[in-house]
Amino acid sequence: MEAVRRSILVVDDEEPIRKVLKTHLTGAGYDVVQSPGGKGIFDTLEETEFELLICDIKMPEVDGVDILKYTRERFDTPVIMLTGLTDTATAVDVMKKGAFDYVMKPVRKDDLLGTIQKALDYRDLLLRNRQLELENTQYQHSLEHKVRERTGELRIKTKELESAYGAIKSMSIQFANVLAETIEAKDRYTRGHCNRMRYLCVELGRKAGLSAERLELLEYASLLHDLGKVGVNELILNKEGPLTEAECAKVREHPAIAEKVLSDIPLMDGVASIVAAHHENFDGSGYPKNIAGTKIPVEARIIAVADLYDAMSSDRPYRKGLAIEIVLEEMERVAGTQLDAGLVRLFIDSKVYSYVKN
Ligand SMILES: [Fe+2]
Repeated sequence: MEAVRRSILVVDDEEPIRKVLKTHLTGAGYDVVQSPGGKGIFDTLEETEFELLICDIKMPEVDGVDILKYTRERFDTPVIMLTGLTDTATAVDVMKKGAFDYVMKPVRKDDLLGTIQKALDYRDLLLRNRQLELENTQYQHSLEHKVRERTGELRIKTKELESAYGAIKSMSIQFANVLAETIEAKDRYTRGHCNRMRYLCVELGRKAGLSAERLELLEYASLLHDLGKVGVNELILNKEGPLTEAECAKVREHPAIAEKVLSDIPLMDGVASIVAAHHENFDGSGYPKNIAGTKIPVEARIIAVADLYDAMSSDRPYRKGLAIEIVLEEMERVAGTQLDAGLVRLFIDSKVYSYVKN
């Protein structure tokens, strides 16, 4: 297949020069159009986008520099200027104005062909570069479009997941509530206890600066802390007189029973370890493991504070709830031994108890 001949426009007011150039360039395989310049040159430039323009500088009607400017502003066509020997200053000037190169008259064929080749190579590179930039921009746009599309899909999925999670969470907390009420029904002394515990614990946990995730665990643990009582005989739980040693031992099993039940439920691991420690004392004198201080999970220490407060302040069938001052006094008395003194301070100073009506 014959190679496509590359198009060159030669502009010179002197016909002999145009003719010589046309002969040389056609012989070298180029497709040459010649023009004497003048006003009509702009129409010629607009009609066909030539791959190369060879243009004389000094011409009577329209100056070569104006043609150069016109071409540079509109097309990718490189321009080689033709200049006389005495015209080097102008030659430098046209280079500044964007000419690809200049060739001195009289033109030497080899010089001209070499310069033409370089100019065409330059144009090819320029166009290739522009094409690559265009492809790159298109690729970026399609990528951005895809990212936007995916982000939108993800947002919808996230919303769906959030709402499903919300539904499950509210269902779980309702289950925990039902379970808590079942425990309360078994132990007639603790009516309303679990729900009050929930508010006291979450409030104290919030004041203690617990993260949202830990507050959530605490909320479950506060509701379910006495879950283990399902494994303790109701007669013992509801006995009015003092418990025997054996009965006491039975009651003391409830944290471990709850731990066992909860640790079998996925996602309740964190709750299980809190519930297991809610009867541990700060000085290590509690049960079942006799752990002390910060070895006891803070959530369990919070439950212990709220548990003592609620046990003393709430009404029982055989007695009225104690006055708030007496309860707080007792809490201060056991701060540092049974309870975490820092949490007791926080409980009292920020009046956490005022959130709950007995
Ligand atoms: Fe308990």
